[in-house]
Amino acid sequence: MNNDIGVIGMAVMGRNLALNIANHGYNVSIFNRTVKKTKDVVYNNPKKTIFPFFFIKDFLNSLKKPRCIFLMVQSGSSVDNVISSLIPYLNSGDIIIDGGNSFYKDTIRRYHELLKDNINFIGAGISGGEYGALTGPSIMPGGKKVVYNIIKPILKSISSKFDNEDCVSYIGPDGSGHYVKMVHNGIEYADMQLISETYSILKNILNLNNEEISNIFSFWNKGELKSYLIEITKNILLKKDGKHDLIDCILDSAVNKGTGKWTCKNALDLEESLTIITNSVFSRYLSSLKSQRTLASKILSGPKINSIIHNQEDFIEKLRQALYLGKIISYSQGFSQLGSASKKYFWNLKCGNIAKIFRSGCIIQAACLNKIVDIYKYDDIIINLLFSPYFQDISNKYHSSLREIVSYVIKQGISIPAFSSAITYYDGYRTKESSANLIQAQRDYFGAHTYKRYDKEGIYHTNWIE
Ligand code: ATR
Repeated sequence: MNNDIGVIGMAVMGRNLALNIANHGYNVSIFNRTVKKTKDVVYNNPKKTIFPFFFIKDFLNSLKKPRCIFLMVQSGSSVDNVISSLIPYLNSGDIIIDGGNSFYKDTIRRYHELLKDNINFIGAGISGGEYGALTGPSIMPGGKKVVYNIIKPILKSISSKFDNEDCVSYIGPDGSGHYVKMVHNGIEYADMQLISETYSILKNILNLNNEEISNIFSFWNKGELKSYLIEITKNILLKKDGKHDLIDCILDSAVNKGTGKWTCKNALDLEESLTIITNSVFSRYLSSLKSQRTLASKILSGPKINSIIHNQEDFIEKLRQALYLGKIISYSQGFSQLGSASKKYFWNLKCGNIAKIFRSGCIIQAACLNKIVDIYKYDDIIINLLFSPYFQDISNKYHSSLREIVSYVIKQGISIPAFSSAITYYDGYRTKESSANLIQAQRDYFGAHTYKRYDKEGIYHTNWIE
């Protein structure tokens, strides 16, 4: 046999990716630790060019050289275990592509370990969920460019398309592809949190029902806010479960798989003010404390919601503007982090290309990414998207709505961490003279940490206690 590529891991993502590759005319060898899953894929897809294998050696012998093996297994030690099982049978020049949600530092380690044996490693972030994997995901491959070029035809053929452009682009060296996927997921956390806070405001302040809220999202999805997440939100709100709206039956306790946390931890390392994503992660943690929240709701006081909105249409438009500005501030933070990481890790990331491949296939696909693509076309080293004419224009037009919504909603006692961190960051970023002079004085007072001055050059220390 001389199959084009092998896929290991026949859970949802791996199975759908294998089918996607086969649908594009390639012969695909498949393998899964649990034999039944491999058999099921072949049984359920009898006409596809998919070939099952039950021993790693046979699986690898079925592939043409250099062998390309897509790993679609659970991230973490499973990836290392599977790589170890492959190594005895691999030859110099073979290519392993990790398409899972691996931590970028693990990818860097694996890349260098495998390089010692001349095995090529590509860490490819893949976004699009179950459906995207089958019909066209957004793909973020990192590793050696020459190796990417070997697998490029397959990746291009299976990727999503935006205006006939493939949503795959070489990202940069070693772990950069998985890094970009991690930040993508962080942005996804913030988008989801902003949308869920909007839902909370429409539900609790305006007392709208799910269908009415869905109609508002549906209307917004025709304009600036057009995105996959708004689209699915409007559908979610209409879903029935018997007589009930399904959304009202779902426990308000959000879980996570860690990519948001990794993004925030890295923001701390890079000293990036990634406030909206970080608050979104914290908000999930807080949501999971259901029993504590239930107890606290009985003993900790706050205002009773008592909203009198005289002009509902005007309020809803202000909320739309607040959501859009929150979203673009969050994208500014995310892309600023990509810029810092690029410098610190010498990755030479092309943020314009990254925005391009986010436009379709992935979870954060949104109309505003087109604007970001245009911004980077004009200025590919822009330090913060808020300096671009488009982001400036939106900020200047919408900041009063964001401010008004945040202050009104906080007065009503509703928690809106993403909205409030958006306006706080915005005001902090545009503050020429902040209160950090006092922090510097305090640091110098108790720890002799020194400070700089406006009026003269140099580093100073004061003996504060005469
Ligand atoms: P999903 O695509 O549903 O998100 P995942 O949890 O990321 O899936 O990965 C699950 C896949 O990793 C499965 O194919 C699993 O194999 P089994 O079906 O045998 O459980 C595979 N996997 C997990 N740990 C593994 C290991 N140590 N060795 C080999 N495969 C492993």
